[in-house]
Amino acid sequence: MSTQLSFFLYSSRLAPDCDPSEVGAIVKVAREFNALHGISGILVFDGERFTQYIEGPESEIATLVTNLAKDRRHTDFLQLNAGDDLQERRYATWSMGYSDVSLEELDIELMATIDGDAALNLFTQAVADMDRL
Ligand SMILES: Cc1cc2nc3c(=O)[nH]c(=O)nc-3n(C[C@H](O)[C@H](O)[C@H](O)COP(=O)(O)O)c2cc1C
Repeated sequence: MSTQLSFFLYSSRLAPDCDPSEVGAIVKVAREFNALHGISGILVFDGERFTQYIEGPESEIATLVTNLAKDRRHTDFLQLNAGDDLQERRYATWSMGYSDVSLEELDIELMATIDGDAALNLFTQAVADMDRL
């Protein structure tokens, strides 16, 4: 039987007492954990805000979301979209892709104010544009 695939998209803000230089370590640990647990996705950081898309087996995503929500290195954790009937992974080759962005490339604050599908479309479009660079 095939495993049910879930996805989750959120935005958050770097905690005031967390230095942006810590993000590299977050990504390194995330890549190792995700590779072991069948999770793929992309993390985007603009120097102040994060937005992250994760996908993988339902139970693994549920556990990671619980951990992310209580991680004190970021605040204002806001779910933007989620689903448990993903037919195909969007970022199968990325255990955790990472990109620094400017406001012109992706406005994370705007993403947090629009509805779920529009936020997901903005995210996937911005990531596709980055890939072409
Ligand atoms: C912005 C951000 C993104 C993160 N992304 C991941 C991730 O993709 N995978 C992961 O295992 N941990 C990620 N983490 C770390 C988790 O929040 C958490 O520390 C980790 O799952 C271990 O949880 P635990 O310390 O409660 O065992 C991220 C943390 C932050 C602040």
